[in-house]
Amino acid sequence: MTIRLGSPDFLRMFPTVVWTLQLEEEASRAINPAILRGLAEIRASAGEPSAGENWQSGHALHRRDEFHALVEAIHATTRKVLSFLEIASDDFEITGCWANVNGIGASHGVHTHPNNFLSGVYYVQTQAGADTINFHDPRVQTAILRPPVKALTADNTDQVVVRVREGTLLLFPAWLPHSVDPNRSARERVSISFNIMFSACAATLSPPLWGANN
Ligand SMILES: [Fe+2]
Repeated sequence: MTIRLGSPDFLRMFPTVVWTLQLEEEASRAINPAILRGLAEIRASAGEPSAGENWQSGHALHRRDEFHALVEAIHATTRKVLSFLEIASDDFEITGCWANVNGIGASHGVHTHPNNFLSGVYYVQTQAGADTINFHDPRVQTAILRPPVKALTADNTDQVVVRVREGTLLLFPAWLPHSVDPNRSARERVSISFNIMFSACAATLSPPLWGANN
């Protein structure tokens, strides 16, 4: 006798969420020139990054006037993320905020942002050829066996490529590995990265350990 079986139901567990917000053009037009002005001032003595190189600012940009509007947007979006996650505390702060300028051909290897709860990035200047960020499967054990697949889907991939444009704001768990492909456009790509931590933990644990505090 043949037993008739239906298709199994499935439960997706422990999802990894990346939150994306596209600022309206009017908002990014209001925010971006001030950011670029502030960066130009900071970079005046740094010069242009050479081909294949990145330039990173100090990590306290959130304290500068030119970044005020962006900081407001980050705070408002973080409150929504904490609410989405049903987190009981909304006592958080930005523990580091810095600019990444990718010269032509420059990339950024896979990394995480330890000692924080959330991380994020805001795109100030992106263009075709420099408009993606890669997120990598944090479940390292899944790499042990990766059979060839007939089609890549959300259930079998180990990397998700997110397309971004000017005015895109992303937030994601700070432990989520991510990377940036080489800048294949003809001009710099400028983004602002930041970390978010609960204030009670932030005082000593979370500020970046590298570079100058400005
Ligand atoms: Fe990062």
